[in-house]
Amino acid sequence: MAQLTGTQRGAYVQAMFARIAHRYDLINRLMTFGQDQAWRKRAIALTELPPGGRLLDLGTGTGDIALTALGAVPRLRQVVGGDFTLEMMRVGRRRNQGQHIRWSATDALNLPFPDATFDAITSGYLMRNVGDLDRAWSEQLRILKPGGRVVCLDTTPPPQNLLTPFIRFHMQTVIPTLGRLIAGASEAYTYLPDSTVRFLTAEALAERMQRAGFEAVRFERHMFGTMAIHSGRRPG
Ligand SMILES: C[S@@+](CC[C@H](N)C(=O)[O-])C[C@H]1O[C@@H](n2cnc3c(N)ncnc32)[C@H](O)[C@@H]1O
Repeated sequence: MAQLTGTQRGAYVQAMFARIAHRYDLINRLMTFGQDQAWRKRAIALTELPPGGRLLDLGTGTGDIALTALGAVPRLRQVVGGDFTLEMMRVGRRRNQGQHIRWSATDALNLPFPDATFDAITSGYLMRNVGDLDRAWSEQLRILKPGGRVVCLDTTPPPQNLLTPFIRFHMQTVIPTLGRLIAGASEAYTYLPDSTVRFLTAEALAERMQRAGFEAVRFERHMFGTMAIHSGRRPG
């Protein structure tokens, strides 16, 4: 299914996340050995959000990055968590009651916000899933304020080295087994490694961001090269 594109990919991804929403956070913690929260913190640091700023966390899921931002940046004016899978946001809203996250039914390919609205946009494990990558970047560029920053955390095809057999075992055996045992959904957790190896390399993704119009684009790798955090800025 990782080869689907366009609206077919969107429909597949939405149904998949609706199925695993109730177990999503737990499996994340287990398969990353608890490291995922550290990368979310790093993503927020890279936004350079000013106090009083406005953040959109796109593909927010259960809202982990939005929540991290509320804890890390003082006096944010607004934190919007946008996603097109309502079940994921329902789980997040239940867990994060009392937190000032504005949950928004949002398709990354058609963002329901006016131009130049946000000081920063984050996304965690979203961009690998969208049906039209260029459209998703151009929508984010449009709703960022000039000078605003975009930060994208996602899995990335790992480099070939001595660790390759261990990484392959983790991705192709451990992760689908966790998905089957904990969420009863091994297919969703086969999609994760499949879509990762099919995704653009970190270098190619940075190039696509530049082509979309972002400047100061850079990326850093984490977890033996299997995760990347890309960042860029809207010119102006
Ligand atoms: C892997 S989850 C990530 C959740 C969260 N960002 C995190 O860091 O754990 C990916 C989320 O992206 C959402 N998503 C995928 N494609 C989307 C699209 N085109 N528009 C909006 N949300 C999308 C899914 O519904 C899902 O909740």
